[in-house]
Amino acid sequence: MDKPSIKIGILGLGTVGSGVVEVLNKNGSDIEKKVGRKIEIKDILVRDISKKRKTEVPQHLLTTNPDDILENPEIDIVVEVMGTIDLARQYILKAFENKKSVVTANKDLIALHGKELFEAAEKAGRDLLFEASVAGGIPIIRPLKECLSGNRFTRIMGIINGTTNYILTKMSRDKMEFDDALAEAQRLGYAEADPASDIEGLDAARKIAILASIAFNSRVTYEDVYVEGITKINSYDIRYAEELGYAVKLLGIAKEADGELDVRVHPVFIPKSHALAAVSDEFNAIFVEGDAVGEAMFYGKGAGKLPTASAVVGDIISAARNLSFGMPGRVGCTCFYSKKIKPIQEIESKYYLRLLVEDRPGVLASIAGVFGNSNVSIASVIQKRIEKDMAEIVLVTHTVKEANLRDALKIIEGLTIVGNIGNVIRVEGSDT
Ligand code: NAP
Ligand code: HSE
Repeated sequence: MDKPSIKIGILGLGTVGSGVVEVLNKNGSDIEKKVGRKIEIKDILVRDISKKRKTEVPQHLLTTNPDDILENPEIDIVVEVMGTIDLARQYILKAFENKKSVVTANKDLIALHGKELFEAAEKAGRDLLFEASVAGGIPIIRPLKECLSGNRFTRIMGIINGTTNYILTKMSRDKMEFDDALAEAQRLGYAEADPASDIEGLDAARKIAILASIAFNSRVTYEDVYVEGITKINSYDIRYAEELGYAVKLLGIAKEADGELDVRVHPVFIPKSHALAAVSDEFNAIFVEGDAVGEAMFYGKGAGKLPTASAVVGDIISAARNLSFGMPGRVGCTCFYSKKIKPIQEIESKYYLRLLVEDRPGVLASIAGVFGNSNVSIASVIQKRIEKDMAEIVLVTHTVKEANLRDALKIIEGLTIVGNIGNVIRVEGSDT
């Protein structure tokens, strides 16, 4: 006799939810062979049952009552692709109370309430899988938790927001202005409903919090991440980066040194020779460094209906297999340490600085004196252009402590010879 099907309930039928339905329908017969049991959609929660939908779904599957899924004893796996924080948290906790495994794409939720959700999953003895929450279609969570789990990681750096990578690519390759590039990213559907979350670095902060927690086995929440977005990057920064041999990228960075974690999101100058510099348009990539594997990079589409559905369906298959073999909850929370987060002032980096200063003798010497007094060593200075009797200078530092650089900049900002500090961008991924 055929084994009974694994029954799933889907919370949400938007971009990702409809992709999940499409992939399960299209590849269902192969998936059945892979799992050994059919995967059957029992119910789908939506807000508006009468809404016209691009993906065809039998009307009887749609419901506006979450309990049709959460309280239905027949349903084995709840797939949360609805978004929101409070409501999704509430529904997922209820799903665990009712002994269901959960698959979610919700980075906002995992980055904030991961600990609580993992505890609930463990108590229920069920899976909490969230591959789609970071970098959409790119497999990175399971590789870190399983394939690469024999490693000690030293560093993770990722282009984990497609919108900002698209904007920076357009600004550098097509000389497009920031606002035009953002509008195009919105039109193409890469940006969040509120694009501030992309351009201010918040979306990337959620994703790097999730990756850092897994890689360093210590819970990092969204609130622990130091964040700067890309709104201050202008066409001069892009041009000077190019001239100096760098690409400008928004990176999520997580490093461990001396038992402390350094977790941040900000724009960087990265050498053009670095693998991440070549990642363009809306593509994402995550570069990891482990003590056994060495350097490895994961590349692909970080968002969109089908790439994200690819990750969600992969998780559904894993959860279904785990249930079939009687081992749900096989890979639970791996945050068994509690590591200190390093304040941003304590990090060390090289910096690119763009300043507008008076164009007369002695100015450079004064500025160099301030940097010297704060222990900030300058690697190079170039005068770039004249703007209304002021000279724009570009400096690149050697590796210095951020606190020292900030002390120096506070003094420099107050000098009468300085018009403004145009931008300060960290230089990452170069050893020279
Ligand atoms: P979306 O297109 O806005 O779809 C949301 C779906 O959830 C809609 O079907 C909506 O119902 C339903 N929904 C929302 N609030 C509800 C409520 N209170 N009660 C019942 N149903 C509700 O969102 P999405 O882009 O698919 O994103 C879903 C999740 O995946 C989010 O957590 C997002 O961060 C994550 N994610 C998305 C992507 C991506 O590329 N889009 C990539 C990675 C991760 P109606 O259809 O009736 O309005
Ligand atoms: N707005 C996000 C991005 C979508 O641009 O990467 C995927 O999380």
